[in-house]
Amino acid sequence: MPITALAHPNIALIKYWGKRDTGRNLPAVGSISVTLDALYTRMSLEIPDSLTEDRLTLNGQPAPSLLPRLAACLDSVLGRERPRLSIDSTSNFPVAAGLASSASAFAACVVAADALDGGERSRDVLSNLAGRGSGSAARSLFGGFAELRNREDGVEVTTLLGPDEWPVEVVVAVTSEHKKAVGSGEAMEISRQTSPFYQRWLDEQEHDLAVARDAIAARDFAALGRIAEHNCLKMHSVMWTSRPPMVYWTSATVACLETVRDLAAGGVPVFFTIDAGPQVKALCLPEAADRVARALGETPGVQRILRSKLGEGARVLEAG
Ligand code: PMV
Repeated sequence: MPITALAHPNIALIKYWGKRDTGRNLPAVGSISVTLDALYTRMSLEIPDSLTEDRLTLNGQPAPSLLPRLAACLDSVLGRERPRLSIDSTSNFPVAAGLASSASAFAACVVAADALDGGERSRDVLSNLAGRGSGSAARSLFGGFAELRNREDGVEVTTLLGPDEWPVEVVVAVTSEHKKAVGSGEAMEISRQTSPFYQRWLDEQEHDLAVARDAIAARDFAALGRIAEHNCLKMHSVMWTSRPPMVYWTSATVACLETVRDLAAGGVPVFFTIDAGPQVKALCLPEAADRVARALGETPGVQRILRSKLGEGARVLEAG
């Protein structure tokens, strides 16, 4: 019987960009994110008889190129002497296009692997193991608003507010479904080594985290929006000033920013954030979600709109 886990991607409002330890994949800075509900990765693990190598299917297709990172994640939970596994992963959104698909994939992977092994590990341990696969994945073990802090030997993620405690909505404007040219792991290392703004980015992060934490505690949407947009544009400034520069935006990305700015200027409670890809994520209060989705859907270059409320952390779906 396969064991299946479900995990959602998360979107950082205060971003992580840069590692302090590439070997252990530890982030240089803390971060704050929201976990989405409507998007998911569902991962099933099975130990078939007489399999000599791991086997991975992604949305029903063999995906050998993605296997090494997932196999390393499975090794980190189950040990290198583990049995060979058949891994079946399904995501209901574009993969590797700046929608945090690696976060939901690694979070689902560690939860499913742990369940296969008796399900004894704490959420903290699983979050650290997921973070070794992809830094942002550590946050997908937690629902609602989550904060990741660095601690000496790893990371510690906590829930700031659960998904129902402040029900904001996320509207994603998908402007391209192509796989990104430079993956975030490689890109953030280039930034660390070459951007003249990188040190300043590190120096200001504690301040941005504190402002966002206070805004979330006070449910102050405008204050959260101001610091989240600033932090996002600062991260992209670091990317743009790296050598070679990394510009993930397209003209449609800029058009979406204008749409969000126009809505906000008209009093609509909405702000934007963008990760290592061309998609624009608009956070809004529930009463504004239809209007935001319509306006972004009509923005030139937008291919489709995804909508989501906030969701729960990664979990086992069925064990047996
Ligand atoms: O989890 P990674 O290593 O793919 O890095 C994700 C980095 C950003 O999405 C750009 C920011 C973040 O904090 O999620």
